[in-house]
Amino acid sequence: MEKNIGKKQIQMTNKGERSMQKTPANEHRQRWSSRLIFIFAAVSSAIGLGNIWRFPYMTYKYGGGAFLIPYLIAIFVLGIPLLMMELAVGQRMQKGAIDAFKKVNKRFGGIGFIAIFAGFAIVVYYAVVIGWAAVYLIKSFAIKLPWAADSESYFFEDVLHLTKGVNDLGNLSWPLFFVLLLVWVVIYFAVWKGTKSIGRVVLIMTPLPVLLLLTLFVRGITLPGSLSGILYYIKPDFSILFHSDIWLAAISQVFFSLSIASGIMIAYGSYNAKKGDITKNAFITALCDTTFSLLAGLVVFSVLGYMAFVQNVDIGSVAQSGPSLAFVVFPKALSLMPLAPLFSVLFFLMLFAVGITSAFSLVEAVNTIFVDEQKRCTIKKISFYVCSSAFLLGIFFTSGAGLYLLDIFDHFVTHYSLVLAGILEAIAVGWVYGAEKMRAYINSVSDWRVGKWWCYMIKYVAPLTLALLAAAQFIDEIKEAYGGYPHWAIALGWLMVIIPIVVGIVLAVKGKRRQN
Ligand code: PHE
Repeated sequence: MEKNIGKKQIQMTNKGERSMQKTPANEHRQRWSSRLIFIFAAVSSAIGLGNIWRFPYMTYKYGGGAFLIPYLIAIFVLGIPLLMMELAVGQRMQKGAIDAFKKVNKRFGGIGFIAIFAGFAIVVYYAVVIGWAAVYLIKSFAIKLPWAADSESYFFEDVLHLTKGVNDLGNLSWPLFFVLLLVWVVIYFAVWKGTKSIGRVVLIMTPLPVLLLLTLFVRGITLPGSLSGILYYIKPDFSILFHSDIWLAAISQVFFSLSIASGIMIAYGSYNAKKGDITKNAFITALCDTTFSLLAGLVVFSVLGYMAFVQNVDIGSVAQSGPSLAFVVFPKALSLMPLAPLFSVLFFLMLFAVGITSAFSLVEAVNTIFVDEQKRCTIKKISFYVCSSAFLLGIFFTSGAGLYLLDIFDHFVTHYSLVLAGILEAIAVGWVYGAEKMRAYINSVSDWRVGKWWCYMIKYVAPLTLALLAAAQFIDEIKEAYGGYPHWAIALGWLMVIIPIVVGIVLAVKGKRRQN
């Protein structure tokens, strides 16, 4: 019975593909101007705040060096196979996330929608964090860094105007508002001509942060005390490996970092010709991204080691996990260095640059679905609507409760929506489209061939491990509300997960009707 359903669906898919080949619209699809530009775009999407801001504090929070074990396992077992899958889906179907899954089965548009919704929710708060980096960058052009005396009150009070809790929204911070506007203007002009403008931007914005990181790395490891910082960072606490939350944290970090399950790689893949390479591109992207994260972690902790050395305190008392690591502890450490303003400029410029290239990739994923659907609306117009609505929603995060809201959104979207999108995508490709069929396609276009292992990962390992871990996390969550936030705030977080699921179900029902 099941087999028959599968067959029927594959036939439908084939029909869909055939009709797609006929549509002249695909001949006019935007293209990356070269393979290098595509790789730059994919790598610069992957390398983002996730590598510099999120990865070091996640590693530190979840057992230091021990975190690298689930992280690296997750990269190879889930990250790379799913990255290959997404690039393949986009490239094979020549469509963004929603239409690409509709081509797998008419009822599956919702899978793409869940991914796109998650990506859009992320970019709304992601741009706010880039805004913080911009504030620090601007303020670094000073003889004496303004946070040198008290970096904690500088960040929480002067920059964020943080209230006592999420119940108190406080006032809008006008400087953050304007910086956020600036960030969105930059993002807009990066995406407004689609692959053409993105191609130009990534040509500079991909190598730039790498150079900055290498400079900071050399500076970091040559500072006195850096070794103790690095040792503290990588010293493993293996006992933590027995907790399910560390595995889910590692997986969600892999998803976040590789830009998967948010529609990006499907959209980016769809701008490649159908014959474009997949396997090697996926490996290059994952390798660059992971190396960048590991190096960024070393930079952050070598500088913290230096701070402990200068202040003659234990490194454990200066290191601090959480989103404020890059904006409280690290800036403080920078302020103690010789030529502090210079290195501060380099660090925040790097943060800004990696943030922007990732933010516009998230926007491009959303733009693509409209470009696919709306033949009459220009990319410029679509970009304008997408960017301005994300900007308007982002204003909430510039309020005094912004940091709390950001923490809640980040938790629910990355731990549930991204994971759910990953599960459904893998099921759709593995079981309905057919893992073997997709592998045959990947191998027909790629320099490196993938073995049968890929099919097992997509069909069994990815959906099962993701579902198990999300369930374990869910049970923990019921026992204890995340972060001790009030009910309404937690409900808001769940809403971000539930809304796209409901839309997905509606799309499935509607798709079924249309099919009949
Ligand atoms: N990969 C980017 C980062 O690590 C941006 C991103 C985050 C993309 C989350 C998709 C989902 O910062």
